[in-house]
Order: sequence, then structure tokens, then C-alpha cells
Amino acid sequence: MAEEKRSFKIQAINRRFLPFDSEKEKEWQGPFFFVQGADCQPGLTYRWTGTERKQCTTDMPMKWDVEIEATRAVIKKLNQMQPKPKFFIVCGDLVDAFDFEEPFRTQQENDIKQVFSELDPSIPLLCVCGNHDIGDQPTRSSIQRYIDHFGDDYYDFYCGGIHCIVLNSQFYEHSLNVEDLKLKHEQWLDEVLKDKQSKHIIIFQHIPWFLRQYDEGKDYFNIEINTRLEMLEKFYKAGVKKIFCGHYHRNTGGSYKSMELIVTNAIGLALGTDKSGVRLVRVTENDIEHQYFPTEDIPLNFL
Ligand SMILES: [Fe+2]
Repeated sequence: MAEEKRSFKIQAINRRFLPFDSEKEKEWQGPFFFVQGADCQPGLTYRWTGTERKQCTTDMPMKWDVEIEATRAVIKKLNQMQPKPKFFIVCGDLVDAFDFEEPFRTQQENDIKQVFSELDPSIPLLCVCGNHDIGDQPTRSSIQRYIDHFGDDYYDFYCGGIHCIVLNSQFYEHSLNVEDLKLKHEQWLDEVLKDKQSKHIIIFQHIPWFLRQYDEGKDYFNIEINTRLEMLEKFYKAGVKKIFCGHYHRNTGGSYKSMELIVTNAIGLALGTDKSGVRLVRVTENDIEHQYFPTEDIPLNFL
């Protein structure tokens, strides 16, 4: 019998993630692992000149089969894993085309959602918004478009005894058009950070606060230093242990006091020496360990 075709479902609603019961999942249930990736970004390979992303118009052919296949290859591997990961989270740049780059944007949304729907239904897929998803200078309507297609732009959830917080990092990069939404994000964040009952607190976001050193200078891939230091101190005081990011299309990371920040390479176009892939994260009672794997090397058993 032909398998029923699944479709992508929005599951981050009202600042929660529906598949995880917010009460039951507060209990520690033993070690588990999850998978973190970023930047599927269908279309970037075709547009990348080696130094920048070239303009595309409707008269130019535009392709993104490479990234769709790269995302599909990750999903096929995760579907074969035994045991299955507790979840798969994609830390932003789910698509490449901005909301004003039609018809590419609509086509990329459809194609990436199709491939996401091929993930085994027992593995929840969580989305994080990136700069390409909501725009470098987000507006109310660009954020709403993301919500309509992928779910809330920020939310928190409990999973197997850990508390996970998903941020909209674009508010820290450019919030001039959406100051009121940024303020709501900050009020919400202060509220969720008050809960210190979990074994571990983890943050997921697209743009890293820094790439290597917490006091490095500002560049395209990190956040301005004053905001960065203020937020890192806030997270540290709240007991956050790890911050997982994307955006850089390379693997890197560093630490702020005892808190680790991890930047994961792209699922789509890798810009460094590591091949495209994802990070596997093992959560135990006392620790969180992680290891990056090129897609072809993802092990079928990780616990
Ligand atoms: Fe990206």
C-alpha cells in the first residue's frame, strides 16, 4: 500500500511546542540525545559567488535542489537511527530567499516543508528563525510570514527534564521596525529564565553572540558587544549551560564563564573546511556532550 503523504505541521504555537507535554517533560527520564542543525538555506549554493550572495531575478534560473537533497540526506539518516533522537532542531535559515524575493521564497518554503515532512513522525522537528527567514531588518509582516509557515518565532519547551529556550536572535541585530515585538520578547525571556528547576537549561538561536571569544569585535556573524555581554551575563546568572547557534556555516564556538556557546556548520552550503552535517547532542544527568558529524558519517546509534 502506498504510504500516506505527510505534510508539515506547525507545532510551535502560543510560545509552546505542542508535542512535548509541558508538565510531564519537566521530569528527568534518563539520558537521551537530540540533533541540532542549521542553515538548510535552499538556493545559497547557486547564488554564492565565493564572497557574497548574488542578486537573483525572475529572468534568471534559480535552483536549490542541492540543499533540498542535503536536507533529505540528513532526514534519511535520522529516520534510520536506533534509538531515535528525542528531537531535531534547525537553528535558522530554513530558506534563503527573503520575503520580497518572489516567486523563490514561496517555492523554497514549499520545498523545505515537504522535505521536513519526510522526517519520521516520532521525531519532533523544531524550527528556529534566521535572518533569511524573517529578514535582516525584520518587520511585523516578515515575522508574521515566518509564523504562518513555520510557527512561533520564539518559544520554550521542556524535554526529558531539561528546559529549552528558542530565541528570535534577529531582535538583537536589527529591531528598529519592531521595537514593541522586541520588548515582548525580552519580557517573555525574563519570565522563562526564572524557572531553575530543570537539570539543564539550553538556548537555541540563529545568530551567535560571538564566534570564538566572548569579547571579540563585532562583525557580520556575531552580535554587537554591549548587548552581547549584557545577555551572556543574564543567561549565566539564570543557570544556562549551553547556547546552540547556526548562521556562520562553519563549526566554531567558545565559552563565557562556565557557559558554552556552540556554532554548528550548515546542513546546506558549508563555507569552511568541514563537510555539511549536523551536531548530535547527548544529555546525561550531569553533562551535555556534543559532536559534529558530516551527514554521511552520522552514526545510526548514538546513545
Ligand atoms: Fe545562513
